[in-house]
Amino acid sequence: MNKDLENDYRSSVDFWNKNYELTEEAIAETMNEEVGEDDWKTLAPANKLFEALKELASCERVLDYGCGHGWASIICAKHGCKAVKAVDVAENSKTMTDLYAKVFGVSDRIDCEAVSTDWLKEQPAESYDGLFMSNVIDVMPLEIAEDILSNLKRILKKDSKVIIGMNNHITPETAEKRGFTVKEGKYLFSNGILRLSLVSDEEWTEILSKYFKIEKLDHFAWAGEEKETRRLFLCLS
Ligand SMILES: C[S@@+](CC[C@H](N)C(=O)[O-])C[C@H]1O[C@@H](n2cnc3c(N)ncnc32)[C@H](O)[C@@H]1O
Repeated sequence: MNKDLENDYRSSVDFWNKNYELTEEAIAETMNEEVGEDDWKTLAPANKLFEALKELASCERVLDYGCGHGWASIICAKHGCKAVKAVDVAENSKTMTDLYAKVFGVSDRIDCEAVSTDWLKEQPAESYDGLFMSNVIDVMPLEIAEDILSNLKRILKKDSKVIIGMNNHITPETAEKRGFTVKEGKYLFSNGILRLSLVSDEEWTEILSKYFKIEKLDHFAWAGEEKETRRLFLCLS
């Protein structure tokens, strides 16, 4: 991978890390918030993601890779999974995930870790039987995405349930028309930050098929979006 793209990727991780930063004040405020019994049901950005996570409830060990602030881990634990491992390379993600896990009463089911990019390589083979990964491999260089996929395949047991969510596809031409910068005809930058790889459904299907058996490619929308264009790959390892 060229050095520029590698640096762009590192800057994007810094960007995510800043996104998850919480002040002591905000932490204390969140800890004191009253949480309704059903509030966790509103954490998913789309109902199809909420429903898809039910598929992982019966797994023995689920990995939420690139967990961000941990919304999926919390839903997965609430759906009934007793052991969720949530990891992210953005250090602040652990503070947020631990905090929300506590607030929603599922700390005993979620083990969150801030990890290095080498963490996956160090994990024993066949250690998980479920995987959730939302908006991770489509916001980074494809070389890194493929490295992650091959390691995920190794650490998943055979026939594990694999759920991969992704942003929608836009072409380089549309991205530029909308005012984004496009590099190498493949990567979209917003305000100088790498935010998306411009990979079509067909291309992702081809890439993911090297590692998993794709059972279904569904599409979904976030609240307020008119069309269901975001991608949801339901696979088996
Ligand atoms: C768009 S955010 C998605 C976060 C979360 N999964 C969600 O759906 O809200 C992308 C996340 O991937 C994480 N990430 C980037 N590179 C990673 C890597 N090599 N291993 C694990 N996580 C990574 C970022 O730190 C960031 O939290």
